[in-house]
Amino acid sequence: MEREQAILQQLSDGEFHSGEELAVKEGISRAAIWKIIQSLLEQGIEIHAVRGRGYRLAEPLEFLDQATIVASLDAGIDRPIASIEVHQHIDSTNTYLMSRAKCGLPGPAVCLAEGQSAGRGRQGRYWVSPYGANLYLSLLWRFSIEAEALSGLSLVTGVAVTRALQTLGVRGNGLKWPNDVLWRQRKLGGILLEFGGESSGPCYVVAGIGLNVAMPKTLDRAIDQPWVDMRTNLGRGPISRNRLAARLISEIVSAFGAFEKAGFGVFREEWNRLDLALGRRIELRLPNRSVSGVGRGVDDTGALLIETTAGIERYLGGEISLRLDV
Ligand code: BTN
Repeated sequence: MEREQAILQQLSDGEFHSGEELAVKEGISRAAIWKIIQSLLEQGIEIHAVRGRGYRLAEPLEFLDQATIVASLDAGIDRPIASIEVHQHIDSTNTYLMSRAKCGLPGPAVCLAEGQSAGRGRQGRYWVSPYGANLYLSLLWRFSIEAEALSGLSLVTGVAVTRALQTLGVRGNGLKWPNDVLWRQRKLGGILLEFGGESSGPCYVVAGIGLNVAMPKTLDRAIDQPWVDMRTNLGRGPISRNRLAARLISEIVSAFGAFEKAGFGVFREEWNRLDLALGRRIELRLPNRSVSGVGRGVDDTGALLIETTAGIERYLGGEISLRLDV
């Protein structure tokens, strides 16, 4: 791992480096360099190998850096961040923060990783998390109110993520209830909220955000749903993941603070503007039945409103999934 890290560091400028140059700098053989390059390719890292010139990354790589992220946070950030950790490899930033939260880690705390070996999505799905390509971020927030009062928080997270994306120039994306971040019906990002603590007392939430920044095309088959990345939306790269991380943290902290004070109601209008199902025929799949109707946005608690033949019905979170009729 450390060797791979060192080679990536050398290639991070996006320029060609010969096998010999890399071997000399690392003090290992060219064959060993070749093996490391193969392992990086297997992890989905896009490296071009050209005879006579050497190796180069498809795009320069900006490593995640704690100090750069801290320096780029909003000056007037509502609440000081207790800790920001950047990991190279981790199983899952959510799993990690949930276990630290159980041991009393103060909030707000942030964990980012260059790559996840067991990234988790909603409904037990696997979140494909290749090294250095995308953003994998989790934020721990402690609430003095009980978990029941937090319905709507997952929608608030979607609004905060959208605000962050928009300040970076992303356009035309919307939200699919409760919080899928989509562009042209493809997944640009996902949000996984996990709760812990007392059900009738102080509790905490870990909000995990995965954003596709520059997903290697070689991983297309590993992803079980239509996807898109920021590079495609913006029509350019490279994208500063440090800046993106700082924007996300600033927006989430500001939105969670506002939610704590005023509840979901103050986000409702903005969420409804981003709602991809508004006024469209939708099908909501529940564990043992499905409901068809027209999407009518959400109410003040974040519950989904569907106009069916029986009138307006409201549905809360859980294992509900929503399909858009195209
Ligand atoms: C979804 O299925 O839409 C939610 C995906 C959430 C993925 C993120 S990546 C950072 C954090 N760590 C995880 O293991 N999952 C979340």
